[in-house]
Amino acid sequence: MKKLYIETYGCQMNFADSEVVAAILQDLYELTQNVQEADLILINTCSIRDKAEQRIHKRLHELEALKKKHRTLQVGLLGCMAERMKEELFETEPILNFIAGPDAYRDLPKLIQDSVQGEPTFNVLLSEEETYDNIMPVRYDLNGVSAFVSIMRGCNNFCTYCVVPYTRGRERSRSPKTILMEVEQLLKEGYKEVTLLGQNVNSYCWEENGEKMTFAKLMAAVAEMSPGLRVRFATSHPKDISDELLETIAKYDNICKYIHLPVQSGSNVMLKRMNRVYTREYYLERVRKIKELMPDCAISTDIIAGFCGETLEDHQQTLSIMREVGYEYAYMFKYSERGGTMSAKRFEDDIPDEEKTRRLEEIIALQGELSFASNQRDVGKTFRVLIEGQSKRSADQLYGRNSQNKVIIFPKGNHQIGEYIDVTVTRCTAATLFAD
Ligand code: 5AD
Ligand code: SF4
Repeated sequence: MKKLYIETYGCQMNFADSEVVAAILQDLYELTQNVQEADLILINTCSIRDKAEQRIHKRLHELEALKKKHRTLQVGLLGCMAERMKEELFETEPILNFIAGPDAYRDLPKLIQDSVQGEPTFNVLLSEEETYDNIMPVRYDLNGVSAFVSIMRGCNNFCTYCVVPYTRGRERSRSPKTILMEVEQLLKEGYKEVTLLGQNVNSYCWEENGEKMTFAKLMAAVAEMSPGLRVRFATSHPKDISDELLETIAKYDNICKYIHLPVQSGSNVMLKRMNRVYTREYYLERVRKIKELMPDCAISTDIIAGFCGETLEDHQQTLSIMREVGYEYAYMFKYSERGGTMSAKRFEDDIPDEEKTRRLEEIIALQGELSFASNQRDVGKTFRVLIEGQSKRSADQLYGRNSQNKVIIFPKGNHQIGEYIDVTVTRCTAATLFAD
């Protein structure tokens, strides 16, 4: 059988999609981890920031050497960059045999076959229905402990800086029946943790026979399948983080006490310009509610530095909301203008790059302090950890995560990957907890 090598960039959704792609092609190709022996290379791409796209261009150029050696090698580009740049990519990237957007993966066997005839092929049609509902993803990460389950696709939020509504199309939910079937199958295979994924999972909604399945109800249904199964989810929009959802997370021990709640900015002026549809005050009220219901819940966030027109005062507001919430973790970025978005059309990208860098560095330094302080508060506490693998630093150590999504490293002893164990934290860095 021919060999397929998939390389994935960007968000967890993309990783989940690559597993769907592997499933669609499983009768034609077997997966390989070795790019040198591949007959087909697929690059699943991200467009979220210019840097992400530059990285992929660089990678495609590196692969040219491989294609010279191996004449029949086919290279295809998938994902958000395919959707954003469409056929234009064939001009800048002659290595490509075909491209497929995020809703076109069922068409891959045909695209591949037609491109063998010579001309490059593409399908970048977006769909209002496609959820790859009936496809059981091929898990190729091989950790066998933790899996992603995609529950919805697309995004209707139109944050002004973001390409996702354009690259992934409108929001649509997957049927609860197939989601639960997929989780059932994972349980049978011995998986211990699922992460329910979507661009905005809280707006998950499925109506059938007059009954409405909300995200909170779906999570409860998944959590009830097995007490030994941990349930995580990502990503949440603050506007939809309802009391019903928080009460559900609080109610089930096996729903992890970890919420990723992107704030983007602490300034109401910026939030408005970003079309985030919440204020700083509303966001802080939601955080208060989370802490009230679950004092041990960890919160992480996404932050953009140097958005259009951001003043020093706006930037200070971001630093102050970070302190007020005391985030456990943050993903922090410089604003990167994306063609076609509202902010590219309406606002000037007017913060010089050096100033964006300076603000970002301040944000990163503060988050370092907050993460370290949060980790120090955990020293002396005991946590239940799901063991995920061997520590990179030493073969005598294992690592896993606690409910709060923090990585804990501890001595191997007789323990196995996939087991739950209770460990007591003895020391920490800003990034990691260590236990006996
Ligand atoms: N520039 C910088 N960061 C961005 N993000 C999304 N679009 C942009 C952009 N144009 C960030 C947001 C989002 C995360 C996935 O990426 O913080 O939550
Ligand atoms: Fe990147 Fe966004 Fe597409 Fe995910 S959805 S791959 S983060 S552009």
